[in-house]
Amino acid sequence: MASESHETHEYDVVIIGAGGAGLRAAIEASAAGVKTALICKSLLGKAHTVMAEGGIAAALGNVWPEDNWKVHFRDTMRGGKMLNNWRMAQIHAQESPDRVLELEEWGALFDRTKDGLILQRDFGGHRYARLAHVGDRTGLEMIRTLQQHAVHKGIDVFMECNIQRLLKDGHKIAGAFGYWRESGGFVLFKAKAIVLATGGIGRSWKVTSNSWECTGDGIALALNAGAELIDMEMVQFHPTGMIWPPSVRGLLVTEGVRGDGGTLRNNSGERFMFRYIPEFFKAETADNETEADAWYTDKANNRRTPDLLPRDEVARAINAEAKAGRGSPHGGVFLDIASRRPADYIMKRLPSMYHQFMELAGVDITKEAMEIGPTCHYAMGGVRVDADTTATDVPGLFAAGEVAAGLHGANRLGGNSLSDLVVFGRRAGQYAAAYAKALRAQPLVDAGEVEQVARELLVPLTSHGGDNAYAIHAQLQECMQNNVGLIRVENEMIEALDVIASLKRRLPNVTVAGGRHYNPGWHLALDLQNMLAVSEACTRAALARKESRGGHTRDDFPSTDERFAMVNVVVRARDGELTLSDEPLPEMPDELKALFEEAH
Ligand code: FUM
Repeated sequence: MASESHETHEYDVVIIGAGGAGLRAAIEASAAGVKTALICKSLLGKAHTVMAEGGIAAALGNVWPEDNWKVHFRDTMRGGKMLNNWRMAQIHAQESPDRVLELEEWGALFDRTKDGLILQRDFGGHRYARLAHVGDRTGLEMIRTLQQHAVHKGIDVFMECNIQRLLKDGHKIAGAFGYWRESGGFVLFKAKAIVLATGGIGRSWKVTSNSWECTGDGIALALNAGAELIDMEMVQFHPTGMIWPPSVRGLLVTEGVRGDGGTLRNNSGERFMFRYIPEFFKAETADNETEADAWYTDKANNRRTPDLLPRDEVARAINAEAKAGRGSPHGGVFLDIASRRPADYIMKRLPSMYHQFMELAGVDITKEAMEIGPTCHYAMGGVRVDADTTATDVPGLFAAGEVAAGLHGANRLGGNSLSDLVVFGRRAGQYAAAYAKALRAQPLVDAGEVEQVARELLVPLTSHGGDNAYAIHAQLQECMQNNVGLIRVENEMIEALDVIASLKRRLPNVTVAGGRHYNPGWHLALDLQNMLAVSEACTRAALARKESRGGHTRDDFPSTDERFAMVNVVVRARDGELTLSDEPLPEMPDELKALFEEAH
């Protein structure tokens, strides 16, 4: 067979993914003086980070001076059902305030308090109003700011480039190989260090807030390169996605609506969340409307509204109400801010939500309630990393942001993802640059391996099997939605594994019409390999965790189980098969344990 041509670039540090984590990593690596490349699958500025709307969590203490990193740390751990990597949660809580102030220095225009400080809003599971925000467009402002800062640093940006394989020299990273989405031409990046910042996995589910890029690429790349995954069973279903009309089903409705006073109601107008307060949060959750509403202005009683319980609790409650026949016409529940806040307040605080519902659903949220339901939003699981350095166990490979696991445990608190991106994006850039500097020679790339990968990538364009990539994707989404969704049970997950196995067998038979130039069918055929790998890892891990915890709810094991309280389910790829093991979490030091015993 004739050899496939490719262009070649050589860098010290290559960052794959240009959302918040990737941009922040690139800024840091470049500032450390190493030659840095930033690769994005989409156009720069179009990252999924923009969909984190309601704010970035940081204990600045601007609205509640009582707030500090210890309270943020404790909230994060409790929200994650203590499955979090304590060291990541500590670093995150300690460093978030500096990262927010840095964003402000770089030009982010946060909303202000009357005194001119950065304003902070309430979000689920956070004891104090802690989310710095720009209306309901915080992620967008963050990307705008980071992008502006990055382009002035002389970082080379490669857009619409899809990386398909990580290459190694022995055990260590040597480069990455992929193709240009526009021309279909191949490209090789030789690199001393690589940072994965590719985001999430939501496109494997049918109802999702995730954009088309979220196909689990980084997780699959890492797994194939020999890295370990943890917590893959932990998938967050955000309680409030749009459910009507069908064309926008899953689109995010920011938690900021509830943070700013919105309440959840069933079809009789009842604030049903008072019936779903779990034992774990009883002491700190209001059990009546007067106390719940007072919480927004008076944290002294420390009894937050149950509308703002952590997301896993709220999503399950919505699901239960709808199942019990108390839901909205299209199978969700109602989210009402119109009867609780004046129209000008809603327009100022939630302008995107106003336009989203007005333009897409014909609903005026200043006058009517929204219809909402759970939507697949975030992967707490992903690549296992060292807490301080973000290094994976493959030398030269680092990971930050949603692709990395550990910080959020079994359930992420809203707003903690934007702070995760900048805290650990910065560290990834710093440690990847240091690793690259310490490496004397550029690692060697095996030309034969490159040739082999190139041939594999072209298979869908030459295969005559006749199968269709879109049909396989639709079947995968249906399968994950129905069998590995918000509520799980063993026989359905076993069925899911059968479906995934049969879809994997069909992949080599996928036939794509047309050539290499901007061919979405070909791109999907290649993305499907990642989506199937991630779906299998998630399903296997979910079968292995025989309990319910955070983003993993089992109908057949409805309670938490002490045997799983302090273990990660670890997934590895060995000889083409996934292997799983339960491994203990790192032990939390006593001074941090003591924070959980202190009076709130
Ligand atoms: O609801 C939201 O605005 C989403 C934020 C997040 O996932 O952190």
